[in-house]
Amino acid sequence: MDKFIIQGGRSLSGMIRASGAKNAVLPAMAACLLAPGRSVLTNVPNVMDVRTMRRLLVRLGAKVDFEDNRMTVDVPEKLKCEAEYEIVKQMRASYYVLGPLLARFGRAKVSLPGGCSIGARPIDLHLKGMEALGAKIQILHGYVEAQGRQLKGARVLLAGTHGVSVGATINVMMAAALAKGITLIESAALEPEVVSTAQMLISMGADITGAGTPVMTIAGVDGLRPAETRMIPDRIEAGSLMIAAAISGGCITIEDCRPDHLGAVIEALRAMGVKVAAGDEMVTVEARRRVKPIDLTIAPYPGFPTDMQPQMMALMATATGLSVITETIFENRFMHVPELQRLGADIKIEGKSAVIKGVPESTGAPVMGSDLRASAALVIAGLKAEGKTEVNRVYHLDRGYERWERKLKKLGAKIRRVHEPMAV
Ligand code: EPZ
Repeated sequence: MDKFIIQGGRSLSGMIRASGAKNAVLPAMAACLLAPGRSVLTNVPNVMDVRTMRRLLVRLGAKVDFEDNRMTVDVPEKLKCEAEYEIVKQMRASYYVLGPLLARFGRAKVSLPGGCSIGARPIDLHLKGMEALGAKIQILHGYVEAQGRQLKGARVLLAGTHGVSVGATINVMMAAALAKGITLIESAALEPEVVSTAQMLISMGADITGAGTPVMTIAGVDGLRPAETRMIPDRIEAGSLMIAAAISGGCITIEDCRPDHLGAVIEALRAMGVKVAAGDEMVTVEARRRVKPIDLTIAPYPGFPTDMQPQMMALMATATGLSVITETIFENRFMHVPELQRLGADIKIEGKSAVIKGVPESTGAPVMGSDLRASAALVIAGLKAEGKTEVNRVYHLDRGYERWERKLKKLGAKIRRVHEPMAV
């Protein structure tokens, strides 16, 4: 198990590129299954979740080559239609194969993902959507078994108790692309990853309008063809780097990013007194003094993303006063709080909110990430903490951040990866 050793206190400076978006690539890889033949994806980040998805596609019968951030997915006429627990338990986004397999082959068997460290994360909306398209769904022995020889377009309302769903919107859109007739997705998620998947499907021959709005219309077509698609930049990685620069009191420029996907993050940072200059596919962040406190409520896009809540909390912990973050999307996404406290943060949890009293100094300590974004927050906090911070279990971070220690090092951070053999 690897860990990071960070020596805090260095200001970040320089230029860095954002990688392709993990959360856009995972559905894109599943979307390749909709068309027999060779699809090409470029700007694909080499992160663990992408490699896990690759293993899943290979198990289903596809041939996947992945080199230099370019992936080719060769999809045969026939595929195995089962995503096994062994893979799904490692990565929930495996559920993205449900829609494509069901739409193309009339059946799919996908393991239920089980628990998750940030909340219960049910998949009822995915299943509701497939049922609305005419699939028969059974849960047997921990697996979702879906059958539906010819899916039929329908009206599908995809709002749940926690609001819209990125995953369900994408999954139902992929299934509806090959259904007979017209599907109307109401309460669709607006995230850029939904739009990028829709654009990819359109380039494959799908008839989709309204992506990026709450109502999407999908007119089913008889077949789709493979296409070449460039992945959008990772807005969460870019945002995490912006916060890293701000906490370090530095100035960095991030290239190949989409400031238009980062509106809420830019607004929050500016309100905290951070200078942010957004250009065409680049953004410069400069923070020369302690940030000001703000109150923030997490919300689906275009609101402030839940995937940046832990990183933002790390920054707030260094602010000149009291900040409040209210998390509305996942019920258990404060697991990083006790770890930030180990670094000297003053944070209290009150229901869905965290009250963060900024402190001028923090001190390095050994800490442990509980999930991908919590780990990013701890790395960010470690950049500021005086002395040595040891972030354990960086395999969480490796799921979604491409060569992050190298990027941070390039920007001047003192950080190194240490490989630790597993204890027996
Ligand atoms: C995507 O997860 C992202 N994952 C998550 O990023 C992200 O946190 C989340 O969207 C919200 O933005 C990928 O894109 C692979 P949701 P997803 O369905 O699609 C509830 C990261 O760190 N819900 O939009 O699974 C759900 O429990 C990850 O990169 C249902 O109730 O999230 C949550 O409260 C973590 N029933 C809310 O909706 C369902 O059937 C939003 O979840 C589906 C979801």
